[in-house]
Amino acid sequence: MTIHIISVVPELLESPFSHSIMKRAADKGLMTVTVHHLRDWAVNAYGMVDDYQFGGGAGMVMMCEPLVNAIEELNAKFAFDEIIYLTPDGVVFEQGMANALSLKNSLLFICGHYKGIDQRVRDHFITKEISIGDFVLSGGELAAAVIVDAIGRIIPGVLNDETSALFDSFQDNLLAPPVYTRPEEFRGWKVPDVLMSGDHKKIEDWRFDQALARTSERRPDLIRNDE
Ligand code: ADE
Repeated sequence: MTIHIISVVPELLESPFSHSIMKRAADKGLMTVTVHHLRDWAVNAYGMVDDYQFGGGAGMVMMCEPLVNAIEELNAKFAFDEIIYLTPDGVVFEQGMANALSLKNSLLFICGHYKGIDQRVRDHFITKEISIGDFVLSGGELAAAVIVDAIGRIIPGVLNDETSALFDSFQDNLLAPPVYTRPEEFRGWKVPDVLMSGDHKKIEDWRFDQALARTSERRPDLIRNDE
């Protein structure tokens, strides 16, 4: 998968994809992330990419021209499946969206700043608008990093243990069950007997019960009531 990100603060995205699982995805050639500086498409020699908003009010708006020139130039080369704008007024991101996006070939993310981007760019170029939650960040970069991480780790071949992403919280609308590792007893706190039993069926049932209990308690909204 090819991912491109347009930002006015590309430094914010230098590290998130250079470590751990995202690095593995890149090293295996399964995901490449390229960050572009919007100022490379600035309208003047001062690097201008934003301007005052019509109608008055505090805060700058990211201008059409640099964004449209950047999007058109990159899209001509990479034929994006989706052009995604990160914004707090977008659709709230969840695992189902990560799964769907992980099947695409090429994605472009646009990080907003200040008061956001000129509505005409949204109307004519953006194919999806995504929020990572009901709070306002200072820009879209950290949201882009969150989404690319969630997508990257489920691209087939990225995780060593192919099955492990399938058992993540949310993959079946349930939160993940508790996990334990050695030692079997620490400060008198013991690992549940069932996990030491070697009985795989019992362990599977226990994990399911725990996941269900945790989900009912913390996120009852995830449990569908089909009746
Ligand atoms: N930009 C600012 N806040 C955001 C949010 N919650 N999600 C996505 N992009 C944003």
